[in-house]
Amino acid sequence: MSHDADSRGRPALVAVVAMAENGVIGRDGAMPWSVPSDLKRYRSLTMGKPMIMGRKTLESIGRVLDGRDTIVLTRSASVPFDGAIVADSPEAALALATERAKTRGADEIVIAGGGEIYRAFMDRLDRLLVTEIAAAPEGDAVFPPIDPALWEKVFEAPAERGERDSAASRFRIYERRAAGAGSPPA
Ligand SMILES: NC(=O)c1ccc[n+]([C@@H]2O[C@H](COP(=O)([O-])OP(=O)(O)OC[C@H]3O[C@@H](n4cnc5c(N)ncnc54)[C@H](OP(=O)(O)O)[C@@H]3O)[C@@H](O)[C@H]2O)c1
Repeated sequence: MSHDADSRGRPALVAVVAMAENGVIGRDGAMPWSVPSDLKRYRSLTMGKPMIMGRKTLESIGRVLDGRDTIVLTRSASVPFDGAIVADSPEAALALATERAKTRGADEIVIAGGGEIYRAFMDRLDRLLVTEIAAAPEGDAVFPPIDPALWEKVFEAPAERGERDSAASRFRIYERRAAGAGSPPA
């Protein structure tokens, strides 16, 4: 079943993440790999969309990304970077992102991490765009487990490895299963 903005009447909530085979997404405030070809994909997947991210992730990126709205979750009142829109709860972030999506005509809101923010939104995500990095580094930030009873893998392909990439990678798309999908007929 398609889950476009029209059928749900609101923008889709989509996590975009690069994770290692062990679920690690970060270490010491950075990603423990260097895969520039995935950053290119990230740009095209997120361009023109509102993005919700944690304060630590925004600090690790070090700037607001061009062509996208950066809504940053923080419990502190100060705006960490010029151009970032501050939200003090996931609900406030969603309301701001929904408004921005409407203004932009965007059909997706990007949940951009890190670990705390993916966890906070996992139960309401509609779609996961996952780059799996062929590595299993130690880390201090992880993506929540992707339960196959709740998520259907609808696409998987190896990504072309760029010459500067520190590891090979695969790209996967998961869609949330419709409630009740998979249960035997009554
Ligand atoms: N591989 C990937 O695709 C990817 C993507 C993104 C990030 N990362 C990595 O993930 C790591 C960062 O993740 P993290 O889990 O440590 O931090 P994070 O999720 O980026 O940010 C956590 C911060 O968000 C704010 N926050 C969290 N929940 C909140 C809530 N309910 N209400 C208001 N504010 C809230 C708090 O900010 P305050 O402390 O300011 O209150 C908290 O300290 C880094 O290593 C980064 O490189 C990887």
